[in-house]
Amino acid sequence: MRPLRICLAASELAPFAKTGGLADVLTGLGRWLGRKPPEGPGHDVRIFVPFYKRIAESKVKTEPLKAAQTVDVRFPQRTIRFGIRTGKLPQSDVPVHFVDCPELYNRAGLYTEDGDESLRFAMLCRAVLETCQRLQWAPDIVNCNDWHTALLPLYLRTTYAWDRLFAGTKTVLTIHNIGYQGSFPDSHLDTIGLGDQRAHLHHGELREGRFSFLKTGVLHSNRLSTVSKTYAKEIQTAEFGMGMDELLRTRSQDLVGIVNGVDYGDWNPANDPLIPHHFTADDPSGKQKMKAALLQRMQLPYDPRAPVFGVVSRLTAQKGFELFADSIPVFLQREDMRLCVLGSGEEKHEQYFQWLRDTWPKKVAIYRGFQEELAHWIEAGSDVFLMPSRFEPCGLNQMYSLRYGTPPVVRRTGGLADTVEPWDPATRTGTGFLFDQFSSHALAGALDWVFRNWRDQQGWKQLVKNGMSRDFSWDRQGPEYEALYRSLLR
Ligand code: ADP
Ligand code: GLC
Repeated sequence: MRPLRICLAASELAPFAKTGGLADVLTGLGRWLGRKPPEGPGHDVRIFVPFYKRIAESKVKTEPLKAAQTVDVRFPQRTIRFGIRTGKLPQSDVPVHFVDCPELYNRAGLYTEDGDESLRFAMLCRAVLETCQRLQWAPDIVNCNDWHTALLPLYLRTTYAWDRLFAGTKTVLTIHNIGYQGSFPDSHLDTIGLGDQRAHLHHGELREGRFSFLKTGVLHSNRLSTVSKTYAKEIQTAEFGMGMDELLRTRSQDLVGIVNGVDYGDWNPANDPLIPHHFTADDPSGKQKMKAALLQRMQLPYDPRAPVFGVVSRLTAQKGFELFADSIPVFLQREDMRLCVLGSGEEKHEQYFQWLRDTWPKKVAIYRGFQEELAHWIEAGSDVFLMPSRFEPCGLNQMYSLRYGTPPVVRRTGGLADTVEPWDPATRTGTGFLFDQFSSHALAGALDWVFRNWRDQQGWKQLVKNGMSRDFSWDRQGPEYEALYRSLLR
């Protein structure tokens, strides 16, 4: 079978621009798709992301792409110029096309609340297509990701429908998180050049004077995917669909769930360059050293008998930390334990963790902010990883923690349900601890169960070993994307 021309478009890409798992997934999937045979399928992959300020100011090596150095994109109210700077995705030969458009992307964060946020990402969609035209590169597949690139399929069907270059192009929209839909007042439609395409938009939304990137993408992509099998079912229900369940049910046949892969090139305790002590399932001794190092770094006293609980997370309602309020203090009071938190997000969560720290300064440490290295340290140096999500499309952290010998405590939802197996001390099978109900009581029950099992250190060793041996690599998950693409081209 011939290699495919695959275009990946997204708002995040590790290590250049990352706020969450989307960045890791794009990198891992891109690397795997592009890896040459016999190790990989050797597709012709190109990735598009904005040339954000933080990338422009970093030491990333890029070169102007000759074919697309100054491109004017006409929107009804103004013409916006961009150029492409091309770099390489690290540890691969995959080209990354950075969309260089200072007037839209030269801002402090990746995402903004500025009035032109819709234009910023409409532009990204169009820049992808404009660049393909200038390269005369006809993608077989354009895989869009989340709301930021979800208008691309509609542009392809309207603004760019005349161009034979795209005659064979199929689109896939991957939903990483239905909690973010890119919803804007319908007055923005004129700004982004879709004012005369109302007939192609979701009518229910338009009646309310709005439109959303994500619904538009769901309407116009050839296929839809999301990042776990369970989440694919959940988003078709009112409880998890965030107002999109009805629409998604109409496209049920075209929606598949593919669990995210893990790039063990970046996340492997055997050789992770971001941690000082390494370990494997067969020789876990380095993990104790990591535990000591982590506690020292977080300025907490080390005691091998006291389990360290780790959290690395965006602190938003999705992640379920409100369940801590009526559960964690009981354990902090009762047990000799440590809690290391790395996170940023909503003020109330940050403050709550700060309060825990102030109340139990010898047991709790928090680092407020985003820190890639510390994320690896917490995965490696903790004994238990906490992820009580209200909903979780896939989740990468629980898979990282499995590989780092840190059994996760998770709620049975989305990708957490698909990747963590309940520990059963009788049969010594399973990899972590699951609870069902979204309640402090249920979380407390799971934590109680953790402490009971922690006391049986022989069993615990097996639990750790089970988790470390699970394989969520892209070698396993990537072929599912490939099959999805091929099924569209038959
Ligand atoms: P989500 O994408 O919903 O945030 P995932 O579990 O899929 O959840 O991915 C989160 C990714 O972001 C992981 O790579 C995790 O290590 C990283 N991450 C989250 N918060 C932080 C932080 N404060 N500092 C460093 N890395 C973080
Ligand atoms: C989203 C989800 C997370 C998922 C990630 C990558 O941000 O919240 O569950 O793992 O995207 O797909």
